[in-house]
Amino acid sequence: MAVMTREMQAEDIPAVLAIERECFSLPWTRQMFQEEVRQDLSWRQVAVTESGEVAGFLIGREYPDAWHLMDVAAALSARRQGVAAGLLAAFLQGADRAERPVFLEVRPNNAEALVLYEKRGFSAVGTRKRYYTDTGEDALVMMRPIGSSGGLGGPLLAIESSCDDSCAAVLTPEGEVLSNVVHSQDAIHERYGGVVPEVASRAHVERMTAVVREALDQAGTAVTDLRGVAVTVGPGLIGALLVGVQTAKAIAWAHRLPLYPVNHLHGHLAAVWLADREAPLPMITLVASGGHTSLVAVDDWTTYRLLGQTLDDAAGEAFDKGARLLGLGYPGGRELDELAEKGDAKAYDFPVGLKRSPRPDFSFSGVKTALYYLLRDMSAAERSARAADVAASYREAIVEALVSKSVKAAQREGARTLGVAGGVAANSLLRKRLREKGETAGLHVVVPPFAFCTDNAAMIGAAGLVGPSVPYPDYLEVDASASLPLGRWSTAPDGPR
Ligand code: KG4
Ligand code: ZN
Repeated sequence: MAVMTREMQAEDIPAVLAIERECFSLPWTRQMFQEEVRQDLSWRQVAVTESGEVAGFLIGREYPDAWHLMDVAAALSARRQGVAAGLLAAFLQGADRAERPVFLEVRPNNAEALVLYEKRGFSAVGTRKRYYTDTGEDALVMMRPIGSSGGLGGPLLAIESSCDDSCAAVLTPEGEVLSNVVHSQDAIHERYGGVVPEVASRAHVERMTAVVREALDQAGTAVTDLRGVAVTVGPGLIGALLVGVQTAKAIAWAHRLPLYPVNHLHGHLAAVWLADREAPLPMITLVASGGHTSLVAVDDWTTYRLLGQTLDDAAGEAFDKGARLLGLGYPGGRELDELAEKGDAKAYDFPVGLKRSPRPDFSFSGVKTALYYLLRDMSAAERSARAADVAASYREAIVEALVSKSVKAAQREGARTLGVAGGVAANSLLRKRLREKGETAGLHVVVPPFAFCTDNAAMIGAAGLVGPSVPYPDYLEVDASASLPLGRWSTAPDGPR
């Protein structure tokens, strides 16, 4: 549910009163709300849903020496969606801007409220005797010092749009993923047999706002609670990247938040961190997707070295082209993998790219050409009868190249961990073989869950958390870059590295 906040008007009072009555045993009266709407020193805001319904409200006072939180509530029908948290965050940011401490009274046995307030920097400073007239209870007085806004302690919003998936995620500062929304464009590009950049950009424009809203809703996070916005700035399709970058900048700018520019490859590498934050370094990670196939040394979470990469096709491309030759679906990697599970991997002998080369590079053009000739020389009946065996043997050659080069590179580099990331890390044989061979070689092997392997924004957020941020308002010049090299966060010569 998307909500916006605005100043409370006299017309809102019936709805506000209804929420007040469902939330509190000693509700404010209509006259009290009417008085607030007329008050000079009153901070009065309502949260309103897209259909115009009041979902919550907050009333505070802006006294000259301190601000006072008087009443905050969310409708029962809008619970757990960050409505009250959002209203509160806006009030506290207002107090921070005015450089005033904030006071409030709360029932000492309202454990839920106490936790909420403590998380936002309040602590108990005293009591007001017999404050609550219904029970005669004392009130606990809490105070929040100037400038302790949720800010840096709040969650991070991350946005990814470098290729054909519109993605947004919300993460805690510790790297816990609160939401991870992916809107795939596969169904759109299927009819062209590949990603059409201009079509991808337009699809991002149409979806990105809804995807971001969905990520915030699922996380129960209000935009006013955020510590900042992370976004993929490159490498990727320039038009697609621009949509994410502009969305992120607009949100960050509107809420005076810092921006975290992220290199897409650093994002893939950070998927390993999301899956296992204790994995010992140094680490070698195989990044294998539809766009890239690289071996990267992660010396620490901000120092990356490119050890080797594909000289021609990416591994995902090899799977997709193979799937196309076999008449499977689009993009095809997953379908080929499923078919291969039913076949005999020893049935055909496909060339393993750069098998004898000591270099940690890959080549998949040979295996693809071999598949083309094999299928060309088969009858239609044979092609369909042997499809599973062909798929299994083809997959075997690709996976063998990926695994043997990765394990060798990890051994040569003296790495302690072997990681894998990118969409091809979903391949069932690759996952199994990498674990077996890596563990036999004495390596700690991390194979992240599928959702962190294919393009997603959670991994971008994770990379954002360990990378640099650009403070408001310095990021207006931060730009997207189609070809951002590994190790760089920005194309600006004096920008963050
Ligand atoms: O990382 P990703 O989502 O997007 C890019 O940055 O390219 O990777 C997508 C690639 C596609 O080529 C897709 O066919 C491949 O990952 N893929 C697979 C499997 N699942 C996805 N390849 C082999 N086996 C799979 N199970
Ligand atoms: Zn990717």
